[in-house]
Amino acid sequence: MTIDQNTKLYGIVGYPLGHSLSPTMHNRAFAAAGLNAVYLAFETKDMDGCLKGVRALGICGMSVTIPYKTAAISHLDEVDELAQAIGAVNTIVNDDGRLVGYNTDALGALKALEEKTRLSGKTCLLVGAGGAARAIGYILKERAVELKVANRSPQRGEELAEFLDCPYIALDDLEVANADILIQTTSVGMSPHENNCLIPENILREAMVVMDIIYNPIETKLLKMAKDRGCRTINGLGMFIHQGAEQFRLWTKLDPPREVMTRAVMQALMKRT
Ligand SMILES: NC(=O)c1ccc[n+]([C@@H]2O[C@H](COP(=O)([O-])OP(=O)(O)OC[C@H]3O[C@@H](n4cnc5c(N)ncnc54)[C@H](OP(=O)(O)O)[C@@H]3O)[C@@H](O)[C@H]2O)c1
Repeated sequence: MTIDQNTKLYGIVGYPLGHSLSPTMHNRAFAAAGLNAVYLAFETKDMDGCLKGVRALGICGMSVTIPYKTAAISHLDEVDELAQAIGAVNTIVNDDGRLVGYNTDALGALKALEEKTRLSGKTCLLVGAGGAARAIGYILKERAVELKVANRSPQRGEELAEFLDCPYIALDDLEVANADILIQTTSVGMSPHENNCLIPENILREAMVVMDIIYNPIETKLLKMAKDRGCRTINGLGMFIHQGAEQFRLWTKLDPPREVMTRAVMQALMKRT
């Protein structure tokens, strides 16, 4: 593509951003859709300044990631109902100067799960109590899934359990957490620490659905163990592509080119290994 005076600018704000595959995924999607648009990584400790820049420069849309998903809310003119309820935004649309916040993590995770399993009436153990766990827990509760939360820090775990109106379980007591679905939402097991895993092997039962939202590596140690124990597994790539596809739809009002986006991310991950 040729960058010219009409090129629309999008980006991601977070710190650190070295690992992010969002620029690769979105630039390939813009190109595939024939859009005169470019997506850059803005790694910054100055989120306030960055969002002032979005307004001043007319940047058309932003992804928001760790550690700004909650803090960004107070800088926006409007926040959609789902993001407001979750208390975190991962997407900003610049609508003619009005910055509007959305959360596509929740929908991304939901779509990835629904591709593999029916949710209604199931029990789910959420491991982790950070922003991703909050988004996933909220949308699963809306789908009548019975939740349990486990987390390293009891305070954060208990807070999320209270928000979701469900039991909190200490990480040491996971044996008692009988669940149909287990979703690993912490950063434990992410590259370069792919030999780490928080979940004891003996709690993984055949026919259990095990999802790890980490997508680098695509198959985490947890997912390898779960496969060996006869569980159905879901890696983090599906959630990542679905949340990115929803961002593309919000920014461009076009159908997202999911296959192109998936291929771009897979190729980038393969280059890293
Ligand atoms: N696939 C996707 O589309 C997608 C989307 C969003 C996020 N993610 C991934 O999900 C992970 C979490 O993101 P987040 O936004 O929820 O982050 P976050 O808000 O910072 O929460 C991090 C969570 O990980 C736990 N944790 C971190 N280090 C730990 C350790 N050494 N032992 C035990 N627990 C530990 C934290 O426990 P404490 O409360 O005890 O600190 C907390 O529950 C990241 O790896 C991120 O890349 C993937």
